[in-house]
Amino acid sequence: MTQSPFKDGLFEGKVVFVAGGTSGINLGIAKRFAELGAKVAVLGRNPEKAANAAAEIGHDAIGLTADVRDYGAIVGAMTQARDTFGPLDVVVSGAAGNFLAPVLGMSANAFKTVVDIDLLGTFNVFRGCHGLLSPNASLIAITAGQAVNPMQLQAHACAAKAGINQLVRVLALEWGPNVRVNGISPGPIEGTEGMARLAPDASTKQKHFDRIAMKRWGFIDEIAEGAVFLCSDAAKYVTGTILDIDGGSSLGDATQRQIDKGLA
Ligand code: HXC
Ligand code: NAP
Repeated sequence: MTQSPFKDGLFEGKVVFVAGGTSGINLGIAKRFAELGAKVAVLGRNPEKAANAAAEIGHDAIGLTADVRDYGAIVGAMTQARDTFGPLDVVVSGAAGNFLAPVLGMSANAFKTVVDIDLLGTFNVFRGCHGLLSPNASLIAITAGQAVNPMQLQAHACAAKAGINQLVRVLALEWGPNVRVNGISPGPIEGTEGMARLAPDASTKQKHFDRIAMKRWGFIDEIAEGAVFLCSDAAKYVTGTILDIDGGSSLGDATQRQIDKGLA
């Protein structure tokens, strides 16, 4: 784990809800808030994964099950979290679905599936949590560089994540000054399902690697530290922003795309 500037107990007594928090990056975020003293609820579709994630986080954690595409179900789960731990101080919307496919290789339902999980899911989580929040709550959406930089075989995720970025900005305007709404855009993160899907072979992995200014993959705990920052008082004047935590991987995209046409 990176040497953290954040002090033990920073989120003592706070309540954190993480949609999509049963694996990968979002689970890492949930664990970090728990280490800093928060009570944490994580949510996914698979009950076994949810139970295991809660057990891994430890004391004062619960695993909940719902599909973020189902507004009633996600509100029910967030209400359960509020009833268990109290009003929600932090809500993270990170559930996502992805697969590589060209536009002509995806049905309308395939496109809709990813847009519904990522974008409609984030709308549902944020719209649904508003009445369950504590004063001065902080919301985080997990987006991606593909929201800004187009990537072949990713029309669904590019469109969905672009929508998430704008949803973050609109909600920051509508819900300020009491609720802060921000996004985190991770770069390629080591050992995640997302990277396994986006870079399934060595040559694709290398092409992603070549774009990273820092010349290394990111780590889950580096995303978690960013989430803690955005939800801490250190960021109390920060809202409506998308924080890139990507080792500079999005900087050279336009040029790089000319070079490596045919990525993946
Ligand atoms: C083309 C595909 C496909 C593929 C599925 N579909 N996989 N089309 N190529 N490889 C189509 C199906 O045929 C179907 O369309 C439609 O998508 C819905 O498929 P289902 O299997 O019914 O959907 P569902 O059970 O809801 O599962 C959603 C899923 C699945 C996205 C397909 O992979 C999933 O649950 N993923 C969650 C985990 C995940 O993806 N993690 C990585 C997130 S990383 P038809 O027409 O046949 O009905 C990430 C990286 C971010 O987001 C960086 C980039 C933005
Ligand atoms: P992951 O391990 O696949 O995590 C996805 C999580 O979302 C799981 O908890 C999954 O649990 C849940 N989920 C998926 N569909 C859901 C649905 N319909 N309803 C409720 N929960 C659902 O993914 P990851 O690679 O760590 O990525 C996490 C986030 O970071 C995503 O938003 C992704 O777009 C973003 N991101 C990742 C990378 C990367 O390098 N990995 C880069 C940029 C952005 P169930 O399957 O049990 O539902």
